[in-house]
Amino acid sequence: MNRTESFTGETLRVVRGTRSGVAIAVAIHSTARGPAIGGCRIKAYPSWRDGADDALRLSAAMTMKCALAGLPHGGGKTVAALPAEGWDPARRPGLIADLAEAIAALGGRYRTGPDIGTTSEDMAEIHRLEHGWAFCRPEEQGGSGTSSAATARGVLAALQAGVSPGSVAGLRVGVIGFGSVGRLICQSLLERGAQVVVTDVDGGLRPLAERLGATWTTADLVREPLDVLVPAATGGLLTAESAAACGASLIVGPANNQIADEDVATVLRDRGITWIPDVVASAGGIIHAVGREELGMDEAAANARIDAIADTTSAVLAHARERGLTTVQAARELAAAG
Ligand code: PHE
Repeated sequence: MNRTESFTGETLRVVRGTRSGVAIAVAIHSTARGPAIGGCRIKAYPSWRDGADDALRLSAAMTMKCALAGLPHGGGKTVAALPAEGWDPARRPGLIADLAEAIAALGGRYRTGPDIGTTSEDMAEIHRLEHGWAFCRPEEQGGSGTSSAATARGVLAALQAGVSPGSVAGLRVGVIGFGSVGRLICQSLLERGAQVVVTDVDGGLRPLAERLGATWTTADLVREPLDVLVPAATGGLLTAESAAACGASLIVGPANNQIADEDVATVLRDRGITWIPDVVASAGGIIHAVGREELGMDEAAANARIDAIADTTSAVLAHARERGLTTVQAARELAAAG
């Protein structure tokens, strides 16, 4: 894993949960626009330092994501770094309590939400235990619910902008990751007449994918000839090598931190592959959560705001084209200007 070179954030707090013994890193990248927001990830890492690094990188991406989405927030992230050698799931309730305590210790400068390894129910528990700084509790409990549908909707808006003025019908699309967001994207693409090929590390999901009408593969979809590649699994999919071998014309998906480093964006640009940065494409979840829970939007207003990701996408692609920038450089410039 690449180490973060310079510390550009505001706060990095690492604690060992007193109940779970798990290392928890809470990173606040920026509160310049408002309280930091970003998901809470529970995942195994080779070491706690890798978990802290992930929190730093992901929190910086959240700052850009919030700015590009026009939200009054900055970026943060929480990572619970489970030991790589395994962990007793019976300790999970203790870990959630440890997470609540770690987040509450920041006194409201950071609010969390669901991410890889956490659910709306976990957010409800965090909310119940400490001060309520968690988005996306179940709707019955006053939250805005899981953000998966909103995230998928935003990715589809970005994808549509990326193929514009063409249509999705007939396109060959490869989706990597058949989790909660990946499967909703597959479903919508199939409904719109795309040919969808899916892969996931969990082969047990194959029947579900096939029932939707997708084709299952164990091939490396990055290398397959595709119109669109949708990264919907964990980050770091695109390295200098995989970008050099990438067979897609357009890459757009909900996974966070898709490129291993910024040189990858240059490789993609030079090869004529359009990469819509994850900070643009994956904003549907936070737009929905903040819109519903803080900005007083109803469902229709939140959806309209999510659909506007298409306009942000077009603006980023146009800016990159005009200035000869990579799409991530273009996104950064627009984020700073907004
Ligand atoms: N996974 C989402 C993100 O980090 C989590 C989130 C949703 C955070 C809603 C805050 C509000 O983008």
